[in-house]
Amino acid sequence: MTEAISPEIRKQIDQLVKELNDHAYRYYVLDAPTISDQEYDRGYRQLRDLEERYSYFLPESPTQRVGAPALDKFEKVKHSEPMLSLDNAFGAEELLEFDKRVKKGLETTEEVEYTVEPKIDGLAIELTYKGGLLIKASTRGDGYEGEDVTRNIRTIKTVPIKIAGSAASPEEIDIRGEVYMNSSEFEKLNREREQKGEPVFANPRNAAAGSVRQLDPSITSLRKLHLTCYGIGALRGMSFQSQSGLIAWLSENRFPVPARFTTVTGIAAAMSEVEKIEADRQSFGFDIDGAVVKINDFGLQQRLGVRTREPRWAIAYKFKALQATTTVRDIQAGVGRTGVVTPFAIFEPVKIGGVTVSRSTLHNWDEIARKDIRIGDTVVVERAGDVIPRVVMVIKEKRTGRERDFPIPEKCPACGSGLLREPGEVAVKCLSLHCPAQVQEKIMHFAARGGMNIEGLGEKNIELLYSRGLIKHFEDIYKLRKDDLLQLPRFAERSAQNLIDAIDKSRQPQLSRFLFAIGILHVGEYAARVLAQNFRKLEDLYNVMPERIIEIKQMGEKIASSVSAFFTDQKNIDLLNSMLGMGIKISNPDYLDEKRTAGMLDGLTFVITGTLPVPRKEAEQLIGQNGGHVSSSLSKATDYLLAGDDPGSKIRKAATYGVKIISYPELLELIQRAEGHPRLF
Ligand code: IVH
Repeated sequence: MTEAISPEIRKQIDQLVKELNDHAYRYYVLDAPTISDQEYDRGYRQLRDLEERYSYFLPESPTQRVGAPALDKFEKVKHSEPMLSLDNAFGAEELLEFDKRVKKGLETTEEVEYTVEPKIDGLAIELTYKGGLLIKASTRGDGYEGEDVTRNIRTIKTVPIKIAGSAASPEEIDIRGEVYMNSSEFEKLNREREQKGEPVFANPRNAAAGSVRQLDPSITSLRKLHLTCYGIGALRGMSFQSQSGLIAWLSENRFPVPARFTTVTGIAAAMSEVEKIEADRQSFGFDIDGAVVKINDFGLQQRLGVRTREPRWAIAYKFKALQATTTVRDIQAGVGRTGVVTPFAIFEPVKIGGVTVSRSTLHNWDEIARKDIRIGDTVVVERAGDVIPRVVMVIKEKRTGRERDFPIPEKCPACGSGLLREPGEVAVKCLSLHCPAQVQEKIMHFAARGGMNIEGLGEKNIELLYSRGLIKHFEDIYKLRKDDLLQLPRFAERSAQNLIDAIDKSRQPQLSRFLFAIGILHVGEYAARVLAQNFRKLEDLYNVMPERIIEIKQMGEKIASSVSAFFTDQKNIDLLNSMLGMGIKISNPDYLDEKRTAGMLDGLTFVITGTLPVPRKEAEQLIGQNGGHVSSSLSKATDYLLAGDDPGSKIRKAATYGVKIISYPELLELIQRAEGHPRLF
């Protein structure tokens, strides 16, 4: 139960929130943390415990970013000021013409002050702050009306929930920016989806958009999205004189601003800055499709105004696409950790943006069919901000009739075992437990970043250790001795010691990381976290029945049966016990106690009508205890109409609003299962 809060505790919580937010800003925005992840986690847990104990939650608390329940659909949001798009310039010539138009419009012959910033290829978002607090985040939509994605945007760690700077804060401000995904994150996500047999995203922009438009914010929170702010819409209670002044204010107030931002005088200087950005475009780590040149002075911007949907005071200089055409020499297949067989194309080597490209993953046979890629085809290959190239399309006009399909192989390319494609599945799998490709990939997955994070234990070293018989399984990593390593060609005293140290450092994982690392079929980072939230320790999962997993609101049948199959296999349990015996100490800060898991109706609004099988007060109490809220008036915002006998007119009203109608027994079921939450499988 909640305890009464004293001023001291309140101060302690306020202080913790402030400190954790400071550290998060240093970590995520400045990329310069001053404390370790463990120290941050410790503070976070301390805060979470205090907040719960005293039921005192600050809106800007880092604990309040996640945990909102899933939605059925997004509400629409009208933008106070339309979100415009930009006119494009292709080449220096068109940039000069822009400058001419600007000077003519401003009736001047003097050089104009411009700002230059990268054009990020993501998804435009508007953040609305009232009284310094983030109250709404919306997508651009058609420019006038977008979708309410507040709960998803809150999970992006670089989005300030509260405007925290020392400088003056406006009463109301709409801050605009681009949400995007880093290239490495995009590749990792697609690799994971490939291995799980899920459809892949075509490019980082689609992946970012798909993540922002997720009905379940807990999935968004795992997608590691980023935000860069570059503009404003409506503004009350403050004013800015220029784009550079705005960017400075945003930066002072901890909003992430463009990684490169310059103010220059004259279009020639702007052009040379644009060229510099283009030359560096590979180094940003995310897709940039151009540079945006804006008149710096807001007064001058206003004088020029807007032409239909585009401002006259800005232009997007579009970079040449990093694409080339080449031919597909061959298509081959490889095997991943989970046994999924993935096809990849071998190209006639071609240079794109200074890098020679000779192969690219084709993900799965559905992708091959969708793009209709055949051996011998001429294809357009693209390399954007990332290192891994992708096939954009086939140039069908170039077909000669000699192109060949690449059918699904019958045998595993690594071990020769038969392959299986389950009905309705995208993935083709090798089910052999002894497939060497899978074993090595499993070890790689175990040691990789999202897993046990053993620095220095990458593909090459694993290959070497495996081929020498030193590790046959990831368990063997913890048996390695420095002397073993010193026998190997790649190791000397220092490097051997470093690896042993890195292995030792990984002996104290968090349960969620460990569950992800051991590579249970269908258990990705999200499912691993959910399991850790529901099981206090590893041993509590031993011999778990699928029914127990299914009880967890986010889990579906497929995961339930694979988790249960894993933990009821004595061989696996022996392996885990042996690892625990080797000094692996697992902590579990994700575990949620009963009080938190009880909130199955968190954030849901109910209206009650008719005669229930229990007194109305009792039903109200039950809803309240489970985190729901009872309202007397029915509106579009109502989630459920709880209807008893003789319900009256509210039923019809609920139907027209699309509000779900449930009976009392259905409410009880809802509390047990938290229906409406999208399940994994
Ligand atoms: S300014 C009226 N600045 O590009 C000003 N936009 O093609 C409109 N974008 O919808 C936006 N980086 O989603 C601006 N530094 C930047 C940008 C940027 C990316 C996107 C934005 C906009 C689209 C227009």
